[in-house]
Amino acid sequence: MDVQTLPKTMRAAEIDRFGAPEVVHLAVVDRPDPGPDEVLVRMRAASLTVADHRMRARDLPAGWGLVGPLMLGIRRPRTRRLGVDGAGVVVATGAGVTAWAPGDEVLVASGLAMGFHAEYVVVRADRGIARKPAGTTFEEAAALPFGAVTALVFLARAQVGPGTRVLVNGASGAVGTAVVQLAHAAGAHVTGVCSGRNADLVRSLGADRVVDYTTTDFAREGEVYDVVVDCVGNAPVSRVAPVVRRGGAVLAVVGTPASMVLAPLHGLRVRGTVAVRGATIPLAEQLRQVTAAVEAGTLRPVVDRVFDFDDVVEAHRYVDTGRKRGNVVLRLA
Ligand SMILES: NC(=O)c1ccc[n+]([C@@H]2O[C@H](COP(=O)([O-])OP(=O)(O)OC[C@H]3O[C@@H](n4cnc5c(N)ncnc54)[C@H](OP(=O)(O)O)[C@@H]3O)[C@@H](O)[C@H]2O)c1
Repeated sequence: MDVQTLPKTMRAAEIDRFGAPEVVHLAVVDRPDPGPDEVLVRMRAASLTVADHRMRARDLPAGWGLVGPLMLGIRRPRTRRLGVDGAGVVVATGAGVTAWAPGDEVLVASGLAMGFHAEYVVVRADRGIARKPAGTTFEEAAALPFGAVTALVFLARAQVGPGTRVLVNGASGAVGTAVVQLAHAAGAHVTGVCSGRNADLVRSLGADRVVDYTTTDFAREGEVYDVVVDCVGNAPVSRVAPVVRRGGAVLAVVGTPASMVLAPLHGLRVRGTVAVRGATIPLAEQLRQVTAAVEAGTLRPVVDRVFDFDDVVEAHRYVDTGRKRGNVVLRLA
């Protein structure tokens, strides 16, 4: 398709200041053009994640201190256009691109650059783009990258195979639902920590056991795990070390700069691995693994609610509750 035939402008959800969901507004902006090594994608759906909440509200986990404002912006948001990933259709490619062609249905992700709550995005042809899994709708596909890429990156830091005992704290969120499925697919014995209302969902994703965090503290139950994955941020090594087997791993999905620096010391405490990452930057290879896992039947998208683009403020309000199950998706076309 010739770029000249496309509309010159598009709608994008933007913020000019930090604050409540109401700071988000739909703006009419110039449609981007692909550079020589880039692909122009007509977005059909995008995820709306806790990362959007954190950027919009400048709400980082406790322990980020002054680093947060420096990263996200002091007086105004550094990132005006939110949205970490989604799914759409290639509409044009730069002169140097051979891997993609108009009409290709794709998953796209940006990492921290964001900007995917828009009708069109450009991505580098060799980064942040992969084939959309066969048999998924655009809404389902958009619900995949954020949680599944994070899950893949963290699980790769531990030995998870047949019989490994894995505990997933926060098993009903975007990341937790993916960790449960991928650990189960690897043959692990999975314990999911969630509230009672989400127990059936978490079991249906492959958890062998569920602990209701509203009634039971998994760290005091007497069960021991090879790997504890903390997707909530309330399971520091000081709390979970007694339930981690010697030589096991704590995967701190919700990390702080201090916990990253101190990870080797924390590791001594569990006599194993403590993995902390500031942010997972999706690469094409990780997106391809997501597509492969869906097509192999070991990962399925968990979509809680889909909102129209016009209802983007309401979608932010829902994500802000912290109660979503799996993923929230914006329908962009
Ligand atoms: N390091 C990285 O690269 C990276 C990447 C992605 C995400 N993250 C971080 O990982 C965290 C999780 O992200 P997410 O997208 O999975 O969040 P999310 O989808 O917003 O999580 C919501 C879920 O958390 C559950 N929950 C809330 N409090 C809980 C508790 N005390 N115990 C167990 N479950 C609880 C809720 O269930 P109920 O309604 O039943 O309470 C809800 O289903 C966030 O802090 C995010 O910033 C880090």
